[in-house]
Amino acid sequence: MDGRGCSRISQEAPNPLIIPASLAANCGANPVRSAWLASLPATARSLALRWKLTFGEPFADATCAWVAPARRADGSAAVLKLGMPHFEAQDEIQGLRFWNGEPTVLLLESDEQAGAMLLESCTPGSKLSAQPEDEQDVVIAQLLRRLWSSPGWLDVFRPLSLMIRHWIDETLANSQFWSDPHLVRDGLQAFEELSQSESERVLLATDLHAGNVLRSQREPWLVIDPKPFIGDPAFDSTQHLLNCRASLMSDAEGKITRFADLLQVDRERVRRWLFARAAAEPRSVWRDDDLSQLAKKLSKSIC
Ligand SMILES: Nc1ncnc2c1ncn2[C@@H]1O[C@H](COP(=O)(O)OP(=O)(O)O)[C@@H](O)[C@H]1O
Ligand SMILES: [Mg+2]
Repeated sequence: MDGRGCSRISQEAPNPLIIPASLAANCGANPVRSAWLASLPATARSLALRWKLTFGEPFADATCAWVAPARRADGSAAVLKLGMPHFEAQDEIQGLRFWNGEPTVLLLESDEQAGAMLLESCTPGSKLSAQPEDEQDVVIAQLLRRLWSSPGWLDVFRPLSLMIRHWIDETLANSQFWSDPHLVRDGLQAFEELSQSESERVLLATDLHAGNVLRSQREPWLVIDPKPFIGDPAFDSTQHLLNCRASLMSDAEGKITRFADLLQVDRERVRRWLFARAAAEPRSVWRDDDLSQLAKKLSKSIC
């Protein structure tokens, strides 16, 4: 668990609650999230009473949630996650319930109103991102293929096209900051075309990357932090690929081909989703940012 062993778990919720800097920074400018952050100590205390938990210092790498190692009344280890109000993460509890530990962490308790989850603890909890990239490709491809399913009641989840629409609207609202409007418009058009031309629809994790895969005992690797939407499986390749920036910059074609083949998805759709995200996904800095550089590279070499 990233060095946070049970010996450091306190008898009650630390008061005042420790808030990781990255989470505070993510909430700062947004009134809804600031209000959520202000209510965190009370929420954590009431859940500690209700679920009979003691918990320790939160994981410092959390950016969209307050997450801490916890111990239940029977002495077993767990992890408490309190999710920040976040459009993409709205159905995380439903998703964990659906996947039921295959191959995600198990959901032990939940409170949808509070965005609260008591999760199976991954031990030792080290991240797949510490492993070589070739190994990451193989493990992530295997996990994604297990996550993708399409039983009848999937319609409780939101369509991927809704998330794409949300991203398009946010990017359009920031048009004054675009440094290369042609590139962004091409990316927006690719988003529109891709989300209207899905031939296969499955339950996606949408944010599966090597930092959201933890070493565990029940299985070698378990998925945390899914953001479920229903849509094109080729889209689910993109978060891991975007994190493999150096490989994409040096050999985009080779990297995309290898990963698309491991996933057994359409290479061309992987290429186009990747281009759309690099060119037009919302971001805080548009001028000379890394993603735009990648989009230019992709548009030269493969689009
Ligand atoms: N079930 C778990 N077992 C062990 N550690 C966990 C677990 N869930 C989360 N963590 C730790 O908390 C961190 C943040 O959790 P995550 O769900 O990825 O939140 P965020 O939405 O902020 O990325 C992870 O990177 C990991 O270090
Ligand atoms: Mg995460």
